[in-house]
Amino acid sequence: MVKKTEILRINSSNFNESIRKAAEILKNGRTVAFPTETVYGLGANALEPDSVYKIFRAKGRPPDNPLIVHIASKEQVMELSENIPDDAFVLMDAFWPGPLTLILKRKKIVPDVTTGGLDTVAIRMPGNRIALELIKEAGIPIAAPSANISGKPSPTTADHVISDLYDKIDAVVDGGPVDIGIESTVVDMTSEKPLILRPGGVGIEDLKIYMPELEIGYSKEKMVGKKVKSPGMKYIHYSPSAKVVLVEGFNGISDTINQIISDYRKKGLKVGLLATNDTADYITEKGLDTFLLGNRDDIKKIASNVFRGLRTLDDSDLDIIIVDGSIEYDGVGSAVINRLQKAANEIIILEKGENIET
Ligand code: TXA
Ligand code: MG
Repeated sequence: MVKKTEILRINSSNFNESIRKAAEILKNGRTVAFPTETVYGLGANALEPDSVYKIFRAKGRPPDNPLIVHIASKEQVMELSENIPDDAFVLMDAFWPGPLTLILKRKKIVPDVTTGGLDTVAIRMPGNRIALELIKEAGIPIAAPSANISGKPSPTTADHVISDLYDKIDAVVDGGPVDIGIESTVVDMTSEKPLILRPGGVGIEDLKIYMPELEIGYSKEKMVGKKVKSPGMKYIHYSPSAKVVLVEGFNGISDTINQIISDYRKKGLKVGLLATNDTADYITEKGLDTFLLGNRDDIKKIASNVFRGLRTLDDSDLDIIIVDGSIEYDGVGSAVINRLQKAANEIIILEKGENIET
């Protein structure tokens, strides 16, 4: 058990010294949370089983859920994996450093605990200066899942990390709020055709420019016509303590949300709203705890606000959070909808609208 978490707040005068300190902690087999361009990660030496166990313990993460190994140079890919297909190099050249994780065949040097016992390894080069300098300075590949308690929304600030993991990890590097706010896109390069396992910071359209044969390997919501479902998933994900009801679609979204809010309030429940500005303009219920995601046409802003919004609303002790899912699938939009679907206890689909991918 860690006694005290060291908080290293980066500023222009202490950058090198903070990176050196954090790298030293990692080299000593301990855990450091640090910013990437997507979300904060909880890092440890990816090649040392005892260090990697500390990540699982701190997060309460199921041991069969593998970690992403973070690197700072393309040469490190060759140390960790073999039989790398040419297409993988094309994607590395196009998107690294950046929010793209590639699943490759692992070399034996990568321990089972890091890969969840799989013979593949997830690798990514993050596009964040602090992350890259830290990995370089440590001189080792760094395993890092998102730095939240397993099942909670991913952290986009050091404060989110501290609120989940204080006294459970050795240090946090505070580099301010992250840029993208949603995790990396995960692409499996070991299957017959490259497969997207998780939508994320790199849009599917952008990947397809380089790899038209790319297929989608994650489940998407396809029900239409006001059906309600409780997703039965292997793991709970991105979930606040309050019940989350996601309303997807565009036609009549504000009316539907007004109705749902009023129904829950009649039962005496405390309701909050996570909504685009466009929908919120037509919400007539008064006195709601509301978190505004941004305008529908600014999907990057919405992405950067999703996890923060879920966490902020959850701090208000609500019974129910209603989520406005009037979001297009473009670019990072499919990742936003994917995370909201996973966070939801209940999903209501309004119509077969433009945002329902087939
Ligand atoms: O943006 C990100 O990817 C962030 C930052 C910190 O880099 N990390 C992150 O890690 O989101 P995590 O552990 O929260 O999500 C890793 C995802 C999981 O869905 C895991 O199952 C999948 O990657 N994954 C890891 N290794 C895999 C493998 N060998 N095969 C298939 N999926 C794998
Ligand atoms: Mg995670």
